[in-house]
Amino acid sequence: MRHNRRAIALLAAFASLLACSPSDAPAAAAHRPGAAGIGDTDFPHDGNGGYDVSHYDLAVDYTPATRRLDGVATIKAGATQGLSSFNLDLVGLHVRQVSVNGSPATFTHQGGELTVRPAEPIDERAAFTVRVHYSGRPQPATSTTNLGTFGFIPTADGAFVASEPNGSKTWFPSNDHPSDKATFAFTITVPAGVTALANGELTGEPTTSDGRTTYRWSERHPMATYLATATMGKFELRKGSTAGGVPNLAAADPRFASSLDKLYRTSGKITDYWATVFGPYPFGSTGGVVDDYAAGYALENQTKPLYGGFEPDEGIIAHELAHQWFGNSLTIRRWKDLWLNEGFATYAEWLWSEHKGAKTADAIFKGHHSRPADDPMWTYPPGRAKPDDLFNQSVYTRGGMTLHALRRAVGDDTFFKLLKSWAADNRYGHVTTEQFIELAERMSGKDLKPLFAAWLYQPRRPA
Ligand code: ARG
Ligand code: ZN
Repeated sequence: MRHNRRAIALLAAFASLLACSPSDAPAAAAHRPGAAGIGDTDFPHDGNGGYDVSHYDLAVDYTPATRRLDGVATIKAGATQGLSSFNLDLVGLHVRQVSVNGSPATFTHQGGELTVRPAEPIDERAAFTVRVHYSGRPQPATSTTNLGTFGFIPTADGAFVASEPNGSKTWFPSNDHPSDKATFAFTITVPAGVTALANGELTGEPTTSDGRTTYRWSERHPMATYLATATMGKFELRKGSTAGGVPNLAAADPRFASSLDKLYRTSGKITDYWATVFGPYPFGSTGGVVDDYAAGYALENQTKPLYGGFEPDEGIIAHELAHQWFGNSLTIRRWKDLWLNEGFATYAEWLWSEHKGAKTADAIFKGHHSRPADDPMWTYPPGRAKPDDLFNQSVYTRGGMTLHALRRAVGDDTFFKLLKSWAADNRYGHVTTEQFIELAERMSGKDLKPLFAAWLYQPRRPA
């Protein structure tokens, strides 16, 4: 006993010596708090600095009748700096417990930022695992600008989950910014009779016990947090695969049961067609979900586009499926480049129309170009999506027109090769507008800076 005490005292003395030894000082200073934002100047609080997530394992238990969610998020990450603390984004839910590498961590939770202080600081480049136990009644995000309602939206029979641009924080702790993609596993438990639809594929048949059913989904390709979904409710399903062999799952709220078959067939047909135009389908399955929440928009949730309260027509299905390449496989690093998603998906609608023998892309382009000079689209440069008006018409339509102007400048042959190279070279990665311009110039051998300047950056109608 006495021996032990002496040994402990000695150890303590030695430890305090070490703590103030000069050689230790730089190491201690090398651990500092990770930033509360990832560095997107338009969205300074979104995401976090100091680490990069590789995998989210989300176990979510949800009861539509009480709207209560119980969650355990296990997040694997790598430190990009020495960390004394770091943040996760989470809004409005109660955090019960946090651990880092299995040891309890202290934390504060304020204004959408969960600050975690691990018992041991984390070294630069070290891999670590954070586990967060949380619960509460998720509230969707609402914006005063044109973003509408998004995030986890409770419905009568479940939830409509569509999180673009930054609504993931309404239902799980995350590094909520597209510049940090990760793979996802979902374990979702709901009352028996409710279907839970998340990204990727089911890893087994759902299991039911004590009146509750658990669904296990896995998205094994990197995914931006805003594309994560756990849409729940009563659904009719149609499963199979496309003619080209991509597993296909369509789901419709009973109110939209009559659109299920068309959703399934159209999604399959368009997925296969885009594979011939943009290159191989990037994910493990395709499909779509129609829920009865009138969101006023659709979202290209990875592998499972979600349509909010309307029967989707071919144009919007073509749009959301084109996003599987442009937006989901190739993801923007900063929101101002959103035209790389929306301009491409809008142009895909025109390509689909052309393919069907309806209006050509050229005719659609000309129709838009003849809009009056005072149309608001001409004063909004689509190459710089505004944080308070992200989904402006210009980002979509003038973004699509930019691609058509490019097609006219470089010719069909180069243009369609360029679309395929863009998708192949950056598959599962991140992209910027500068990279696209660079590739277009390289493949065409032309100086395209004036074209992109006029179409993407000038506050007036291009000639
Ligand atoms: N990316 C979606 C689309 O192109 C639009 C998402 C709108 N999101 C929102 N919060 N309003 O169809
Ligand atoms: Zn879109």
